[in-house]
Amino acid sequence: MENRSKEIESMRRRWDEHAERYDEWYKTFHGAVEHYVDWELLKGYLPKSKDAKILDAAGGTGRITLPLVKMGYSVTLCDISLGMLNVARRKLRRAGVLDNVEVCECDVCKLRFADESFDFVLCWDGMAEAAKELIRVTKKGGKISMFLINKYGSAIRKFHEDPSSALALVRSKSGYVYDEKEKYKAVSVEEARELFEKEGVKVIEIYAVCGMLDILSIPEKIQESRSWDEKFFKQVTEILLKLSKEPSVKGLSKHLVVYGKKM
Ligand SMILES: C[S@@+](CC[C@H](N)C(=O)[O-])C[C@H]1O[C@@H](n2cnc3c(N)ncnc32)[C@H](O)[C@@H]1O
Repeated sequence: MENRSKEIESMRRRWDEHAERYDEWYKTFHGAVEHYVDWELLKGYLPKSKDAKILDAAGGTGRITLPLVKMGYSVTLCDISLGMLNVARRKLRRAGVLDNVEVCECDVCKLRFADESFDFVLCWDGMAEAAKELIRVTKKGGKISMFLINKYGSAIRKFHEDPSSALALVRSKSGYVYDEKEKYKAVSVEEARELFEKEGVKVIEIYAVCGMLDILSIPEKIQESRSWDEKFFKQVTEILLKLSKEPSVKGLSKHLVVYGKKM
């Protein structure tokens, strides 16, 4: 319990410090490509009715909340970092939609919402431990979308600097990876499926997302650039959307995004 509080405190501090810079990365070619791919995949799963209640858990600066609210959905945005939430509030206020969003500070592993409160729950943070709690607050028949750390993609990236850790990760059933000192559980596509199915969620699809520009050997200079050729952007996003669904490629990405339906 004490360890958990320390982990939360350290996570909160890190995101508070990063808050004002978080959205900047999405203005680069790399960030814009990943945002486009995330959103294209998400669009296919959004509820038909605009009366649907959506939870954007660990939603940070509202990268996804803002477009959802503009589309007319009723959204609750929660996060542990007040710094990230303050940036979100500022953006929502500027867009004139702050009053349409419930913004609250809360831990995704200990949500303050009643069972079956939301028609759609997304948590794009990589915290596998939160799955059960996120499923609890999803209505029966509702959908859930969760980012998880990809075990094989992480091992591939780690191998050149630390072969022993990379091997330990692929050998173990419950391997962890460190991202900026924070510990995340890493899962394979099959383990991601198991995680949801044992909690009564039918997995609709698991996509491979994030970190694929390195696999395509896109030079760092282009990845970091803030202006780009639109034709190239379209080509890159088209191939990434195809690869995200391709079973033979799914092990390579940094993250997996699971879409499921609570039965
Ligand atoms: C990579 S950012 C993602 C933000 C947003 N989901 C997006 O896709 O742009 C991770 C976010 O998770 C939040 N976070 C980390 N641990 C959390 C926890 N236990 N409960 C709630 N939020 C958490 C961080 O504060 C940060 O805002």
